[in-house]
Amino acid sequence: MNLPTEEARGLARALTELLDASRQAVTAAGSPLIARIAEHVGCPLDEIPTVAEHLPSWDHANLQRGVDAYLARHSPDAAWFGIAGSRHFTSVVDMLAMADTSGQYRLGAVDYTTVATGPSSAAEAVQLGLVCTLGPDGTPVVLAIQGADEDRGEDRCHLQVLAADRSTAAAVREEILALTREHDVFRGQVLAFGTSEHRGNRLLTFLPRPELRTDQVVLADGVLSSIERHVVRSVEQTVALREHGQHLKRGLLLYGPPGTGKTHTVRYLLSRLPSCTVFLLSGVAMIRWLRATAALARRLEPSVVVVEDVDLIAHDRSMTMSGNPALFELLDEMDGIGSEADVTFVLTTNRVDTMEEALAQRPGRVDLAVEIPKPDAACRERLLRLYAGPALRLADASPLVEATDGVTASFVKEWVRRAVLSAVEGRTALDEQALRSALDELLSQQQALTRSMLGGR
Ligand SMILES: Nc1ncnc2c1ncn2[C@@H]1O[C@H](COP(=O)(O)OP(=O)(O)O)[C@@H](O)[C@H]1O
Ligand SMILES: [Mg+2]
Repeated sequence: MNLPTEEARGLARALTELLDASRQAVTAAGSPLIARIAEHVGCPLDEIPTVAEHLPSWDHANLQRGVDAYLARHSPDAAWFGIAGSRHFTSVVDMLAMADTSGQYRLGAVDYTTVATGPSSAAEAVQLGLVCTLGPDGTPVVLAIQGADEDRGEDRCHLQVLAADRSTAAAVREEILALTREHDVFRGQVLAFGTSEHRGNRLLTFLPRPELRTDQVVLADGVLSSIERHVVRSVEQTVALREHGQHLKRGLLLYGPPGTGKTHTVRYLLSRLPSCTVFLLSGVAMIRWLRATAALARRLEPSVVVVEDVDLIAHDRSMTMSGNPALFELLDEMDGIGSEADVTFVLTTNRVDTMEEALAQRPGRVDLAVEIPKPDAACRERLLRLYAGPALRLADASPLVEATDGVTASFVKEWVRRAVLSAVEGRTALDEQALRSALDELLSQQQALTRSMLGGR
């Protein structure tokens, strides 16, 4: 600006006076926001102690449920209110302190957000809001909820408790946290960790639980039932084991070539454990979620932690936070989960050889290792009939079964899919001929692919 110095000073002075006057006006009239809180609690804002709890952002739905249950118990008619002008991420306590001295933060509407509560359900949660309620001892208390602020890289949600007496505030916090655990939305769900597009914040997402019948999993006789017996345990067995001081945790390793049904078997197990909480981890990135997963698995027991393709981390020689290679960290975490916790680890791998050394050095983590091999002739026929369904016109399957020696289960599935497709397109029957030509086509394509990968023509 190009104003004469004297004029500039005058303007600055006038502005300062104006600001002071407006501040005084706010304080004199009293900020309705502050008044509401101070009147309820019964002492001036700057004398009210606050007790806070900071939770991971994924716990927002649980925090809301805990607070809702608390309010239902102590002040069912309580109404939420908000803070107008809360544009930037500032803690509620700081905003209230500023509301007292400036007109910036005023009494306003509650800010709501949506949080997932299941694979296809969501609920409203308070993103920023306050509510007047009572402590367990009947004295006045104000609660505030503040959700995570993704855009500012803040990935925790917050509970603030304001009460004239700090011990009341602490008691309220404890009761809300207990209710939060009691109403946990994650209990009995299938969950996967991920990273949001925004600033890499941690996310916990719900997945639908797979539904598979026994006849949809084709393994050699007795294999599936022995796996199932190991993992699916009755409540009575759990009680008996605990009474006899036995540890509950189990470790299952499924190994075998790709496409033989390791993931398929895991999905079947999950369908047989409808009330277990499940955590799905895979890839090298899983190490990042290991600690959080172990803590959640304990909190939400009985639970199953699935670590798919664990050989990927076996190759990873880089050190983790605890200074261990990733695979050792996983095995240590499996052990550290505590003997009392009802947590089962299910690991899958295509390359069990890369893990042998680690498993030998950390014994006891895996108490059942089951090979899922390529299907034998009997299994190939079952797979063929399973995937072809009732449209299949085939009296004797043995020529085709013989011709497919050495293929994987997923190969059989793809082969049948192609045969069905060409039968539908050509309006022909799904018979030996249709299956034979689809097989020849698939095998020759596979050979061409192998040749080109090997650098041939
Ligand atoms: N043993 C099996 N029985 C029935 N279907 C299977 C079997 N193995 C694989 N499949 C089919 O092939 C698909 C891929 O198999 P998958 O379980 O992912 O193999 P893996 O995890 O061993 O690499 C499965 O989704 C399923 O449709
Ligand atoms: Mg798999």
